[in-house]
Amino acid sequence: MTQKIRIGVLVSGNGSNLQAIIDAAHTEILASAEVGIVISNKKEAFALQRAEKEGIRAIWINPKEFESREKFFDKVIEELNVSNIDLVCLAGFLLKLEPNIIHRFRNRILNIHPALLPKYGGAGMYGHYVHEAVLRAGEKESGCSVHMVDEEFDHGDVLMQRKVPVLPDDTPETLAARILAEEHILYPEAIRFFSDQKIKSSH
Ligand code: GRF
Repeated sequence: MTQKIRIGVLVSGNGSNLQAIIDAAHTEILASAEVGIVISNKKEAFALQRAEKEGIRAIWINPKEFESREKFFDKVIEELNVSNIDLVCLAGFLLKLEPNIIHRFRNRILNIHPALLPKYGGAGMYGHYVHEAVLRAGEKESGCSVHMVDEEFDHGDVLMQRKVPVLPDDTPETLAARILAEEHILYPEAIRFFSDQKIKSSH
């Protein structure tokens, strides 16, 4: 049997996408992968409890304990290395990555964004701001994107997307909920797609 791809998930909050990845890794959808570690920059992130419940190493790294963001990410890299991580998945992780981690995991970091990139991405486009902007613009559809992470916010190549309609009576909350349900399908699929490509290219 080929070895499973080990995923490190970086989180800041609820972790419903983390849960979707963990659940999919227990099924055929993502049987080729396993979550090796979950790292949060927020002590109270519910995502940490989700990971612990599954017996996955889950740690809080406090950015305030480090003299710079770079040093914080040095510690994140150290933990990812110790856990033998092949692929980093950002799942509601709210800090901008520093060049050191992007360099260490070049072309091996994915993010999920609740809009159809390249539209409605970039600095300040997160959470309800995204959905407010979509509604303000009168878009007829929105969705979610999984993309490669590079030095710029929401900028790397898009791997996969799923679309949803924008309904006339949508609020940012109803639209966000419709998209989140699609994210939970998309992220495991995109990780599978990514790892299948990597395996092919290494043969
Ligand atoms: C998701 O909407 C994701 O697209 C964005 O942050 C949110 C995270 O939600 N990057 P959760 O913590 O996975 O529930």
